[in-house]
Amino acid sequence: MEPKRLKNIRGLTDRRIDALLTLLSENPTIVVSGAKIAKEIGVTRGTVWRWVQKLRDLGVNVKGHARTGYHITGIPDILAPKLISRRLLNTTFWKHIYHFFKVESTNDIAMKLGEEDEAHGAVVIAEEQTQGRGRSGRVWSSEKSTGIYCTVLLRPPISPAQASLLTLVAGLAARDAVGEELDAAPDIRWPNDLLIQGKKFCGILTEMHAEPDRVNYAVVGIGINVNQSRMPAEIAGIATSLRIESGHIHSRLEILIRLLRHLDRYYNLFLSSGSQPIVRRFAEVSSYFQGKRVRITTATESFLGTTAGLESNGVLRVERDDGRIEPVISGDVVEA
Ligand code: BTN
Repeated sequence: MEPKRLKNIRGLTDRRIDALLTLLSENPTIVVSGAKIAKEIGVTRGTVWRWVQKLRDLGVNVKGHARTGYHITGIPDILAPKLISRRLLNTTFWKHIYHFFKVESTNDIAMKLGEEDEAHGAVVIAEEQTQGRGRSGRVWSSEKSTGIYCTVLLRPPISPAQASLLTLVAGLAARDAVGEELDAAPDIRWPNDLLIQGKKFCGILTEMHAEPDRVNYAVVGIGINVNQSRMPAEIAGIATSLRIESGHIHSRLEILIRLLRHLDRYYNLFLSSGSQPIVRRFAEVSSYFQGKRVRITTATESFLGTTAGLESNGVLRVERDDGRIEPVISGDVVEA
C-alpha cells in the first residue's frame, strides 16, 4: 500500500515504531511482554527495549521492562501515522502519512514528495523541526513534541492565481479545529494567521510548483503552538500557545485529526463550489475582513489603511487614507 520510495527518505520513522506505539495504545491497561511485542512487530527484544526508551524520551509513559512486559498509562500524544490514519478513513488524507521524530522542515519533505510524484493528499508530520520556516524567510520555532508541524501535499486543478485561496482554506480549517478546543473562537488575520487575544499561535506557509496556467502541486504547511509552556523571549510579546491561553495541556493528536478533517471539508467545498463560500466563511470569522485599521508591509512598501473585503481570488482589499483601494496579494498585516 505504501510507495517504495518511502524507504529512501532520511529520518522517516520506522513503521515498526509506529506499530509498537499502536500496539501499546490499543492495550493501555494490559502488560504486554517484550517477547510478544518483538514477535508481533518483527524485531528483537533488544530493539523493543531501545524503542521503548525513545518513546519515554518523547514523554510517553511506558511502564515496566523487558522481563515483565510493558504497558502505557493513557493514550500517548505522539502523532503516530497508524493512530491518525484510521480516524481519517473517509478523507483524502488517510493513505500516505509520513512521520518524523526530527526533520529540517516538513514543507521541504512535502516539496520533495511532490517532485517524486507522490499522490495528492500525502501528509508529512514531525515531532520536531530543526529548520522550521515561516513566511517571508522567518524562522518557525518548532520545539519537540509541543506543537503541530504538518504539511499536506495537494494537486489542485487550479491556476496559480487562485492559489491564495488554498491558504485561506487551510486557515479556516485550522480555526475550526482549534475553535472546538477553546472557549473563545480564534480570530484569523489575513491571510491565515490564527490569533487568540491578538497573539499568534498558528501560521501557514503555502509553497508550490506551477506552470503559468496551472499548479502542478502545492504544499500547505501548518504550524500550531499547542503545549508550549512559554514562547521564546524574542516572540513572547506577539506569539502564544493554546496551553498558555487555556492553562491546560491539549491533545495534539486530536487537534491534528480535526485539522485534517476540516481541511478535507473546506478543500472539497472550494473545488466543488469555488471561492465564494470560502470568502463568505472568511468574512464571518475574521475581524480583519472589513473595517479594520491596519498597517500593510509588502516587499516594496509599508502603508496604513482600512480593510475592505476580499476579492474572489482571496486578495485583500485595503482602502488607503486617500480613498484608493489597494489589492494586497501578499504581505504582512498588523492591526494599526
Ligand atoms: C508563518 O506564519 O510564518 C508560517 C508558519 C508555517 C510553519 C509551518 S510548521 C510546518 C511547516 N513546515 C515549515 O517549515 N513551516 C510550516
